[in-house]
Amino acid sequence: MAAANAFKNIMTWIDDRLPVTETYEKHMSKYYAPKNFNFWYYFGVLATVVLAMQLLTGLWLTMSYNPTGEGAFASIEYIMRDVEYGWLIRYLHSTGASAFFVIVYAHMFRGMMYGSYQKPRELIWLFGMAIYLLLMTEGFLGYLLPWGNLAYWAAQVIVSLASVIPVVGEDIAIWVRGDYLMSGVTLNRFFALHVFAVPLMLIGLVVLHFLALHEVGSNNPDGVDIKKYKDAEGRPLDGIPFHPYYTVHDLVAIVVFLFIFSIVVFFFPEGGGYFLEAPNFEMADPLKTPDHIVPVWYFTPFYAMLRAVTFPLFGLEAKLWGLVIMAGAIAILFVLPWLDRSPVKSIRYKGLASKIFLGLFAISFLVLGYLGTVPPTPGVTALAQACTAIYFAYFLLMPWYTRAEKTKPVPERVTG
Ligand code: HEM
Repeated sequence: MAAANAFKNIMTWIDDRLPVTETYEKHMSKYYAPKNFNFWYYFGVLATVVLAMQLLTGLWLTMSYNPTGEGAFASIEYIMRDVEYGWLIRYLHSTGASAFFVIVYAHMFRGMMYGSYQKPRELIWLFGMAIYLLLMTEGFLGYLLPWGNLAYWAAQVIVSLASVIPVVGEDIAIWVRGDYLMSGVTLNRFFALHVFAVPLMLIGLVVLHFLALHEVGSNNPDGVDIKKYKDAEGRPLDGIPFHPYYTVHDLVAIVVFLFIFSIVVFFFPEGGGYFLEAPNFEMADPLKTPDHIVPVWYFTPFYAMLRAVTFPLFGLEAKLWGLVIMAGAIAILFVLPWLDRSPVKSIRYKGLASKIFLGLFAISFLVLGYLGTVPPTPGVTALAQACTAIYFAYFLLMPWYTRAEKTKPVPERVTG
């Protein structure tokens, strides 16, 4: 009793100076989330868990990693063999990067299915897209740090892409590398950006992502506004307090995720050569180009689009158009909230055209992901071209098909 009173007094003292209880209530115990969240709503919390894991394991890796061209590769071997549990920390981090992208792709797809980007959630989506860009940057930078040969050459290919930009391209490539070719100087700056600048921005954006979400409230699989029907105390009838209901509910997903993740980390940490590739077990060598240069799997859909452009157009070379298509494929995601003109949010109540286009979009993205991992034969290129066309059609035709199709009536309340 005395302890409880002391705690209350301390909290009152703090609350008079900093609104801790008020913030806790606003974002946890009095934040009403729709009661009909399904499987797809687990990925936000899982992304948060993986972000925390990456920050922690990254911090520990930094303690033994040596960010120099001469020492990086050996320091990773040292971490794997000599540092206590170094192998575990490294595998958690390297496999964690892949898990992060699996989760974030599922999280984004959920948003597309249920129209979570639509008014009034455009800012949540935009912050999400900024997070996605930063995540890709973070993945790209981190991938080079072990100074493996494939990563070295993959980074060389990607940075050199800048040189196809007319006039300033070559200067940009040199500016990014800090050298005429990928070198220890490049590794140094990639390290600085990977461990400091990008994570800091990521954390800031994730906070903004949450604040924007809690301002307007979560969407749900029905796309119904739960704030429409409230009880006498002003609580949404179809909402439940985030804490304790969803904290407990999410714990189940976290345990299941950690179980599956542990199986991968302990038994298949290299993910069959997709998470850690064989040529990366050889040290970076500027004189030895690997036979087949591919980026890590989470970039391959965009890489396949880059390679799909094989012909020059309007006097500009194919590579430049490839770059434009690749950048366009990411940029177009930013304007998604303004392309969807449907009167309904969820795919459950949208028309057949939306369902077909979303399905084709998902299939084309997966196929492109695969095509980006294999050498570009004429058949592969033709299929990649078709999938790229479908990918863009989903977005570019959206203003038209979302208005033209017949939607189903949306229920007044969530459907359970
Ligand atoms: C570090 C990466 C990210 C973290 C930690 C994160 C976290 C979260 C969390 C915890 C939620 C609420 C729970 C849920 O709805 O699942 C959420 C909602 C949302 N996120 Fe993210 N997110 C991340 C990346 C992204 C990305 C890349 C996008 C899209 C480009 C995105 C778009 C959204 C949208 C639209 C919602 C609202 C969903 C709804 O209410 O239906 N997020 N996010």
